[in-house]
Amino acid sequence: MSPQIAAGFVLAATLLLSGCGSGEPNKAASTTAKTTSQAASSTPGEKKTAAVTVGVQDMKFSPAEVTVKVGDTVTWKFKDSVPHTVQGIGDKAMGINSPIFDKGEWSYTFFAPGTYRYLCSLHPQMRGTVTVE
Ligand code: CO
Repeated sequence: MSPQIAAGFVLAATLLLSGCGSGEPNKAASTTAKTTSQAASSTPGEKKTAAVTVGVQDMKFSPAEVTVKVGDTVTWKFKDSVPHTVQGIGDKAMGINSPIFDKGEWSYTFFAPGTYRYLCSLHPQMRGTVTVE
């Protein structure tokens, strides 16, 4: 490729980019913002997040009431002899909906302040609350 042709390519590419309409910059910006927020949530120190653990055993959530900050993750650890779930009560907690667990753990990250009530769908008397502030 001669230098003249190469220069022509660069010019054409530049024109193409600059003439590319208003949609492209917005798309690029939103992609960048998403990447940045994901990086922030996984980088300790920039925004401090905490992990709170709730045990699920002896037919109850323990502690049944926890308080966390926006962006914190709550992890339920299932260690009972019977299976349980974590299921939100009402519209606000609708996203809280774990599979049925015999053993293992399940996490949910809270991004909006408020009080989230939940129960075990297999044993509705098992109830808990996560307060996000
Ligand atoms: Co249960």
